[in-house]
Amino acid sequence: MHDQASALRALASRENQKHSKMRVIAVTSGKGGVGKTNFTVNLALALAEYGQRIIILDGDLGLANVDIAFGLTARHTIAHLISGEKSIEQIILSGPRGIGIIPGGSGVQGLADLERDKLTNVLANLGRLEKMADMLIIDTGAGLGHTVMNFLQAADDIILVTTPEPTSLTDAYGLLKTLRKEAGEVPIHVVVNRVRTESDAQATFRRLETAVHKFLDGSVNFMGWVYDDPLVGRSVMQQEPVGISFPESPAYRCVQWIAGKVAGIYLRPPRQAGGVRGFLSKLLRSF
Ligand SMILES: Nc1ncnc2c1ncn2[C@@H]1O[C@H](COP(=O)(O)OP(=O)(O)OP(=O)(O)O)[C@@H](O)[C@H]1O
Ligand SMILES: [Mg+2]
Repeated sequence: MHDQASALRALASRENQKHSKMRVIAVTSGKGGVGKTNFTVNLALALAEYGQRIIILDGDLGLANVDIAFGLTARHTIAHLISGEKSIEQIILSGPRGIGIIPGGSGVQGLADLERDKLTNVLANLGRLEKMADMLIIDTGAGLGHTVMNFLQAADDIILVTTPEPTSLTDAYGLLKTLRKEAGEVPIHVVVNRVRTESDAQATFRRLETAVHKFLDGSVNFMGWVYDDPLVGRSVMQQEPVGISFPESPAYRCVQWIAGKVAGIYLRPPRQAGGVRGFLSKLLRSF
């Protein structure tokens, strides 16, 4: 613990910025397969259109997703960063519109079991992200796993993706319940994916909100919805995000609208102990 604390202090003093400007946004869901990766990738593209510099951290422990969605192949992952074989600059993939992608893979779990002698190096590398981007968007895995929860607790904002399906909503509620206990102060924004109509989206959000008001403290913010759109599926097959293949598609239009709201988050004054440095210190404290 002592080593971690001193490494963090050293990192914090190395770059003497008082407030970090980079925001850390975690995209998550209760149930798997609801569209997190597609949403993350297209949100990054839309934010890049707004002039934001974006880095995506693929925080899914399973198969690499984000690189595939961009039609890229990760050669190195966070695991190489942890082992000291590669620097952050060497593992980041370059996507379209200047988007950087950090492939996580099995290395993400490694972040949780960092050996002390490796910690300083990893911290210094991740700390350099601050100079490279305005926002770090994390595509977490689904569910209530230990690593996912650590990412969520450490983020500045959480975007919770659900679909109107009852099972997806039930799992979203389950995740919210845990988040209220374990990450009480992190704002949660809900995106309803794969809706047929606006009223479908509104009704879905209301169902979730009613449960939250009835059984939990706190509130959730409705960030928007994305239409169920066959062009998304087509883009997945082509390994190209819908924001590139079909920028006029209904689904991408929705993501652009949501990106406008997310860009607004960036304009909000930073919380103290937020940003990438706050993220790292909270991440380490939770392990
Ligand atoms: N708005 C949409 N319209 C139509 N299909 C969609 C939409 N969003 C996602 N999909 C479909 O759902 C599938 C799963 O999406 P995605 O891989 O983004 O989910 P995920 O939540 O990241 O899954 P996992 O939990 O496995 O990581 C995609 O292959 C895509 O075809
Ligand atoms: Mg995914």
